[in-house]
Parts: sequence; C-alpha cells; structure tokens
Amino acid sequence: MRTLFIAGNWKMNPGTAEAAISLAEAVKAGVGASADVRVALCPPAVFLNRIDHVLEGSPIGLGGQNMYWKPEGAFTGETSGAMLVDAGCTHVILGHSERRHGMGETDAQVNAKLHAALAVQLIPIVCIGETKDERLADQTEDVLQGQLTGSLAGLSSEQMAGVVLAYEPVWAIGTGLTATPEQAQNAHAFIRGWLSEQFGPATAARVVVQYGGSVKPDNAAELLACPDIDGALVGGASLKAADFLGIINAARDVTAKGKA
Ligand code: 13P
Repeated sequence: MRTLFIAGNWKMNPGTAEAAISLAEAVKAGVGASADVRVALCPPAVFLNRIDHVLEGSPIGLGGQNMYWKPEGAFTGETSGAMLVDAGCTHVILGHSERRHGMGETDAQVNAKLHAALAVQLIPIVCIGETKDERLADQTEDVLQGQLTGSLAGLSSEQMAGVVLAYEPVWAIGTGLTATPEQAQNAHAFIRGWLSEQFGPATAARVVVQYGGSVKPDNAAELLACPDIDGALVGGASLKAADFLGIINAARDVTAKGKA
C-alpha cells in the first residue's frame, strides 16, 4: 500500500501571519512525530518562511501553491522553484484548477513548471480534473487524458514515480459536493491505467494520486479506503486544525486497517 499523503492547500488564507502560525502550530502538535501518514501544509507564499520555522522538528512537509518555470530574472510577481526551496519548501502544487480556469494556466505551462520543480528537487503535486459541464457531457476521461498528456510530457519513469497527482473534479471544489467514492475511484483507476500504459505498471504502482474536492473529516475515511486513492488535497477543511487533523486521523485508521 502506498503511504497516504494528506496535504492542506490554504489557498489565499488565512488573512494574517499570526493566524497562519497558530494554525500551523496546532497541526504540528496534533500530528506529533508520527510518520505513518505523509502530511504537508501549503500556505500562501508570503507566510512560507515563517511556517517553515514553526514546522522545524516536525515530519510535516511545506509546499508552495505555484511557481514560475524560469530560475530568475525580470518576471514581476513570480516566485522561482529555488526561492521556494530557500523558504523551506519540500513540495509545490502545480496546475490547480483555480489557476487553470481562473488565470488561464495551460498544460504546457504546468509542464514547464513541473520540469523546473524537479530540477530543484521539489516534489510536485500536479492537479487535474474535469468541470461540471465536461462530466455531464461524458468527457471526464478525455479531459483527464489531455491534462495528463500535456502536463506530464517529457518525464522519465523515475521522475514520474516521484510526482504526486491530485484528481480534483472542479465541480467538487469548495462547493460542498464531493465525488462519491465510486466516482472518485473510477477516475483514479483511469489515471493509474494511463500511467501504466505510459510508464509501465511498476511506476504506475508507485505514483501517489490524491483526491481533492470538499474532503471533510466525515467523508475522508470512505474516500481514502478506495484502492487507487492515496491521500487528499484539502482546501476549506485544512483551515481548521481540528478538521484537518480529523482527516489525518481517518488516513491513520485506513493505514492501520490496510486496504482490500
Ligand atoms: P475544498 O476542499 O475547499 O473543496 O478545496 C479543494 C481544493 O481545491 C484543494 O486544492
């Protein structure tokens, strides 16, 4: 069984460094030293350095929410992968739907960022997922295949094995609508099948594929128990330490019981 990986995407929250630090402190205290489940926090870029200090001595990873593909230069408002590493990051979220749909980010740009992230040893969390209209038009698998092909172009099998994917159906993000475990498992099985075709079954078996979209403490266990769901990328519920820890505890229970 792949080690379950729970990451909190704080998006553009909370409003102050003080609130961000207390949230990280509470998560750190709740997680303790145990590493049976992988955990990472992805705060806004301006808080990264301070959260890195909070997380010192903890197994919790730190992730950026985006980065630029160039290493340095005249790119106003952008952050390089090396800068994320310098701020203490181990991970970076790439191609989140709010960037793809809200800011016009393309598969080619996600791919350029992915290669730049790997070049500085950041673990990328590459997000993919269909919109509501695409699901209703029965295009989910075509959309996923297009995003996978474009975003993951040019990776070796060894590189692929170290990339985390996050399946986030756009219609389930921040809406309170969650994919049913069956819908999510079907999408994850499709993703793993595609990985197996492109990179071989051994690599496909190593790739961690998180689910994201209204994951909460009360629906986490049944999603995480699905055979191809290897964790969660959590938005809203990661902003309350008790809820985020509830999801981590659900992952611990699933880990202790093992999957079918
Ligand atoms: P919610 O958990 O708020 O639906 O957000 C999911 C998400 O976008 C994580 O990246």
